Amino acid sequence: MNDNDQFDPLSPDVLQSPWAAYAALRREHPVMRLDGERIGRPGEDVYCVSRYEDVRTVLLDPATFSSRAAIPAARPSPELRARLREVIAEGWPEVSTMLTEDPPSHTRYRSLVSKAFTPRRLSAVEPEVRAICVELAKAFDGAPVVDFMAGYAVPIPVRTVAVVLEVPDSRQADFKRWADYSVSAIGRSISDDERVIAQRAIVEQQHYFAHEIEKRRALPRDDFLSDLLNARLTQHDEVSGEPLTMPEMLSIIRQIQVAGSETTASLLTELMVLLADHPDRWEAIKADRSRIPLVVEEALRLSSPNQGLFRVATGDTSIGGVAIPVGSTVWVMFGSANRDEDVFTDSDRFDPDRRDQLGHLAFGKGPHYCLGAALARMEARIGLDVLADHVDTIGIEPGQGLTYAPSYVLRGLESLQVSFTYR
Ligand code: HEM
Repeated sequence: MNDNDQFDPLSPDVLQSPWAAYAALRREHPVMRLDGERIGRPGEDVYCVSRYEDVRTVLLDPATFSSRAAIPAARPSPELRARLREVIAEGWPEVSTMLTEDPPSHTRYRSLVSKAFTPRRLSAVEPEVRAICVELAKAFDGAPVVDFMAGYAVPIPVRTVAVVLEVPDSRQADFKRWADYSVSAIGRSISDDERVIAQRAIVEQQHYFAHEIEKRRALPRDDFLSDLLNARLTQHDEVSGEPLTMPEMLSIIRQIQVAGSETTASLLTELMVLLADHPDRWEAIKADRSRIPLVVEEALRLSSPNQGLFRVATGDTSIGGVAIPVGSTVWVMFGSANRDEDVFTDSDRFDPDRRDQLGHLAFGKGPHYCLGAALARMEARIGLDVLADHVDTIGIEPGQGLTYAPSYVLRGLESLQVSFTYR
């Protein structure tokens, strides 16, 4: 089935609100062939997989659906490729690690990273996340209108990941800039010059972290980077091998930074929009903080800050009865799956009391299940908990025309002005 007229992922309407288009796909063309040209990948067949069960099947079968080209971006022209190569030559080679690897190589990376990204490390970060949220909330306490993105949603994840990676305050602005450039081409079209500038930022970041890693090689610390440097697989692990190389560590660090910043900021802003629309839920949270986790899960389901990623078919196969030739790109649409009415009753409704939201796919499923899910949940939980100490009522400032960033992957508001009253 090829019906490009029915689905144009980069059209302003769909970027602003994809839900009706997803519902039509699920209903009429659950596995639809899209001309890759539509998303800057001419000559490619892209199969859009929109139903929950099909998305789940693809995610759980990495042998048939490879992650080697998981990140959706327009393909560079030969000229742009040459310009990018020049910049890349000034840094470390960009190697494929977690997100874009398949088992068993992927298993090795996940095992090594999990020796550094441990529950103990996360618990140690928790008080710092709370301190960050309290500092930010105190800074706007009393202001009738708050720039929620700049004042809360963006700094919480950026500063949290900076805590994990031990980035000092003096480099926070650089860190934020690197994160922004790292996602600038994901699921959206940007100019060649912008892609070159983004690549420069990536190389700059590589130099910063390579230097930090070398410092720890000389003098190990009790921190994530030292653990990453010293991670080794033991005989009891399923796979064995060498320690991580510098390019591998730099790739992992970049993934943690990229995957953990914009997505979590989007979750926090969506929570504000949903809670402003449902003041009874905010009242309930203020009275009983144990209600926060299910509100966060329901916001994850409804908003899906990561709307979808790609897989490549490793052989001729089929999904939901539609033949998928070897080499085809398969677009796994988490955002659509999370609104599948066959799985989630009254699927567009915000209902934290529903019993089915815990099966959502906002963090994916299977071997690539989000490494940072626990951290993102913690940031959202503490972010709301601290807000509930300060804020009495939440409103969305009228007349601001809420606009989403023009990406079909990373869905999030570009800005959000909220009106708060205080406790
Ligand atoms: C609300 C916030 C977040 C959302 C919605 C989200 C979503 C996702 C999704 C859907 C995947 C699966 C990718 C796939 O199947 O190809 C994923 C993977 C990943 N996420 Fe997250 N993420 C979030 C926060 C974070 C945070 C805070 C971190 C950093 C610590 C992080 C790090 C990663 C990494 C490294 C992977 C790749 C894992 C692998 O390939 O094995 N994410 N995320």
